[in-house]
Amino acid sequence: MTDELLTVVVRKREQQAEGVVALELVDPQGNPLPVFEAGAHIDLHLGDNLVRQYSLCNDPADSSSYRVGVLKDPNSRGGSIAVHDTLHEGVELQISAPRNLFPLAQTNGRSVLIGGGIGVTPMIAMAYALQAAGKPFDLWYCGRSRASCAFVEDLQNSPFADHVHFHFDDENDGKGVDLDAVFAGSDSDAHMYTCGPAGFMEWVMSTAAAKGFADANIHKEFFQVEVETGGEAFEVYAEASDVTVTVGPDESIAQALNRAGMKIKVSCEQGTCGTCLCDVIEGIPDHRDVFLTDEEKEDNDQMTICCSRSKTPRLVLDL
Ligand code: FES
Repeated sequence: MTDELLTVVVRKREQQAEGVVALELVDPQGNPLPVFEAGAHIDLHLGDNLVRQYSLCNDPADSSSYRVGVLKDPNSRGGSIAVHDTLHEGVELQISAPRNLFPLAQTNGRSVLIGGGIGVTPMIAMAYALQAAGKPFDLWYCGRSRASCAFVEDLQNSPFADHVHFHFDDENDGKGVDLDAVFAGSDSDAHMYTCGPAGFMEWVMSTAAAKGFADANIHKEFFQVEVETGGEAFEVYAEASDVTVTVGPDESIAQALNRAGMKIKVSCEQGTCGTCLCDVIEGIPDHRDVFLTDEEKEDNDQMTICCSRSKTPRLVLDL
């Protein structure tokens, strides 16, 4: 991972579905962009310290551009609205290099890719990679309605169209996808990948577990979670910087430390990406993220400071 930012320009912007735009980003001089792996995302720097992450959804073999799909979220904390309102064709912006927290497993077994709504985006890059590697896979794309789902035509015209299955609730009497059919034929080598709204993902993952998928074969990427916010005030000592702050009931540790003049890097601000992960030297965190696994949370030696809080009156962090 590198912290160096890249400047790109929006070469193409398309309205892909209700509330979804697709952006094609290229180097302003036409140079190739850094190579990325399927499942990777980039941070878009949207001004005013607003940084948001979006999965890359083009063919990883093609580094001439990056493509992202962005749903305008009515509950947006600023990110998707800034994308929709400001990123028009010809606009320059800064992005991070691609980073992959959702990689494909190194296996020849079957991959079952299940995207809910705009959560399909990383699955598209994965499908390109699996197709190129000649590995068995199916991509299930589930959404409320065809009109609300981006990239449908692209998938129908893709080199892996035969592997794509669509399920639109409004064309199926409002019913969700039949997960028995989705997981049929999956043996113990199969891996499943899901991204979408939290409730959808929980349903898909718990069904996969009930059907015998091992934990290690269930892969997920959250793009939208409800983070519990606020609580009692507590003290944080950033040991390496020798800074002490009181974290107020309605602010995060990262915000309190930034208020004290530190430069804490955050991205998703909802405990999904791990950008703000830091080591805990003393005290017990109140973990509220979905980035760490349950086992990692039990160790209490790391925490995400954009959303997690403290169970003890004082935390000492390695910052
Ligand atoms: S900024 Fe993403 S987990 Fe904290």
